[in-house]
Amino acid sequence: MDERQTLISLENVSVAFGKERSVAVTDKVSFDIKKGEFFALVGESGCGKSVTAMSILKLLPEPGAKISSGKVLFEGKNLLELSSKELKLIRGKKIACIFQEAMAALNPVLSIRKQLEEAKLKEDSPERILELMRFAGFSDPERVLNSYPHELSGGMLQRICIVMALLPRPSLLIADEPTTALDVTVQAQVMELLKKLSKEFGTAVLLITHNMGLVAQYASRVAVMYAGRIVECGFAEEVIKNPMHPYTKGLLAALPDGKKSLKDLQSIPGNVPAPVDFVEGCRFCDRCFNAKPCCKDFPPLYENENHWTRCFFPVHLSENS
Ligand SMILES: Nc1ncnc2c1ncn2[C@@H]1O[C@H](COP(=O)(O)OP(=O)(O)OP(=O)(O)O)[C@@H](O)[C@H]1O
Ligand code: SF4
Ligand SMILES: [Mg+2]
Repeated sequence: MDERQTLISLENVSVAFGKERSVAVTDKVSFDIKKGEFFALVGESGCGKSVTAMSILKLLPEPGAKISSGKVLFEGKNLLELSSKELKLIRGKKIACIFQEAMAALNPVLSIRKQLEEAKLKEDSPERILELMRFAGFSDPERVLNSYPHELSGGMLQRICIVMALLPRPSLLIADEPTTALDVTVQAQVMELLKKLSKEFGTAVLLITHNMGLVAQYASRVAVMYAGRIVECGFAEEVIKNPMHPYTKGLLAALPDGKKSLKDLQSIPGNVPAPVDFVEGCRFCDRCFNAKPCCKDFPPLYENENHWTRCFFPVHLSENS
């Protein structure tokens, strides 16, 4: 049981896109992240992970996107009700973000030093930049600080983005697929750095990923997202050991574990439906090995201690019956 205090809670957040015809892309998304926790949001491409992350700081494109319901509670306030001026005090300061393409987040014509100095709090000394650079694994920070983005590798740039995000001492770092563009060795360095900062600085991390392997290795809790809904949530170890939702089981079966041969890796048949095709009942129905006629209705909540799912026939119950 994790007794840490809650840092941020999403309560029934729904997002729709479209000017003339509004199409719901996420449906009553709820989860909370504790202080200093490493939390993962996992699901296939198009499930609504980035839309959920962007809804937290109202970063969705306007006009076009609309947060149609819900609350995001942070430090006693609903972020969705704050003015742009109030949100500016939170974005990049108390809640920071890093994305897949580190290069796009940096200014190509400014040195790394200049960009980090701009991100640093006025009251902090320049030594803080050097400290964080060393923390991020740069053994010769002065050389890197004098470089321009095009002179550095993708992994170095992503670590610089993390340093930049940490300078204002955020309590939450949202990392949206931060390692997808990197090769496996560099991916591990960036993930280790994220893990280390949650441990040493108490910064909570919301890792957005399609990779269950990263969840297994790094996350303390996980929410599994499918077609705009959270379908399962719990401690990562428990969810991986005893997945309740057939979708989670499918994601895990597709994961290489060093023992399975290529032919034993099972991909989930079919694709995530497009938002225009979303139904009210279970959206995984067409791909589910366990589907029954009643699954056309909205799935009930099944909860076991700190682990819950929305499904008519959770995996472990069906397998034991
Ligand atoms: N600006 C937009 N206008 C219209 N629809 C959008 C927009 N951005 C996202 N969507 C739709 O919202 C749904 C969720 O997209 P989202 O980017 O959140 O998926 P994701 O889970 O982050 O996928 P990926 O793993 O590929 O990044 C998708 O169907 C997508 O087409
Ligand atoms: S509700 Fe039914 S179709 Fe949906 S995941 Fe559960 S068993 Fe499968
Ligand atoms: Mg995304």
